[in-house]
Amino acid sequence: MQENYLDISGVGIEFPTDEAPFRALQDINLKISRGEFISLIGHSGCGKSTLLNIVAGLENATEGGVILEGKEVDEPGPDRAVVFQHHALMPWLTVYENVELAVRQVFKGKKNRAEMREWIEHNLRLVHMEHAVGKLPAEISGGMKQRVGIARCLAMQPKVLLMDEPFGALDALTRAHLQDSLMDIQAEVGNTVIMITHDVDEAVLLSDRIVMMTNGPAATIGEVLKIELERPRDRLALAEDAGFNHHRQQVLNFLYAKQKNPETLKQEAALGVAQESPALATPRATENKLSSEQAA
Ligand SMILES: Nc1ncnc2c1ncn2[C@@H]1O[C@H](COP(=O)(O)OP(=O)(O)OP(=O)(O)O)[C@@H](O)[C@H]1O
Ligand SMILES: [Mg+2]
Repeated sequence: MQENYLDISGVGIEFPTDEAPFRALQDINLKISRGEFISLIGHSGCGKSTLLNIVAGLENATEGGVILEGKEVDEPGPDRAVVFQHHALMPWLTVYENVELAVRQVFKGKKNRAEMREWIEHNLRLVHMEHAVGKLPAEISGGMKQRVGIARCLAMQPKVLLMDEPFGALDALTRAHLQDSLMDIQAEVGNTVIMITHDVDEAVLLSDRIVMMTNGPAATIGEVLKIELERPRDRLALAEDAGFNHHRQQVLNFLYAKQKNPETLKQEAALGVAQESPALATPRATENKLSSEQAA
């Protein structure tokens, strides 16, 4: 693996507001190798999307910067495709045309018409959306729109795939299918991935490293957890695996003990509740997913 393929160094950002400027991120340093799969995890509002947008070139850091393969990132580019937290399809284009737009941008002059069609259909099949090629975004469900957004990004074969809670809005079966597809694609193509997630199991299953962020304002990287699990990874086998469960406990401990949800802290302070570490032995279904409602 090439060290320092993607180098995020000294990144901080301040947003202007009506009152004092709001400092969202501070002193973020992360070196990512080519082909590495990184998950970003942290409570709602800590600055995960902001950091991803800086890497995408959509937002400018106030301090520090991002270097990809020796070149400074200062604008968006097809080498860094983004799956947004909320889908971002062109509403006047069909499912097929939305993917086609991206494919044309990247493969113009490299693939002929037939090859482009085959490639677009291949990527839509991957996310099980081949049945809806002629539909407009308004005619499909939210989860389906998200799947088209994922197909569009995969079809661009970007050097770096930036995914903001890509599977958050999907049902459990589709989510599992897409997680497995993403692992297969990444093993084959070797793209570098940064994915934001609130799902602890998802982070452990997919990642080489999990980057855990502290609560904002002035959020930064709290801990980086290396996931020492062999690939290919099998979700069923790992469910019983001691290493897997140890890693997941480490993430839960960071989120619920070391970086307690700021909203919970505020509520507890208002109620005069004594500060103590929360029990980590809550039922798995509720603890596993740091849901938006809980985190917001
Ligand atoms: N353009 C902006 N102007 C002012 N404040 C902003 C702006 N964009 C983001 N923020 C603030 O920066 C902080 C980080 O926001 P961000 O969207 O990055 O959080 P997040 O970690 O992605 O949250 P979530 O998990 O809910 O998606 C928040 O407090 C947010 O209100
Ligand atoms: Mg976000």
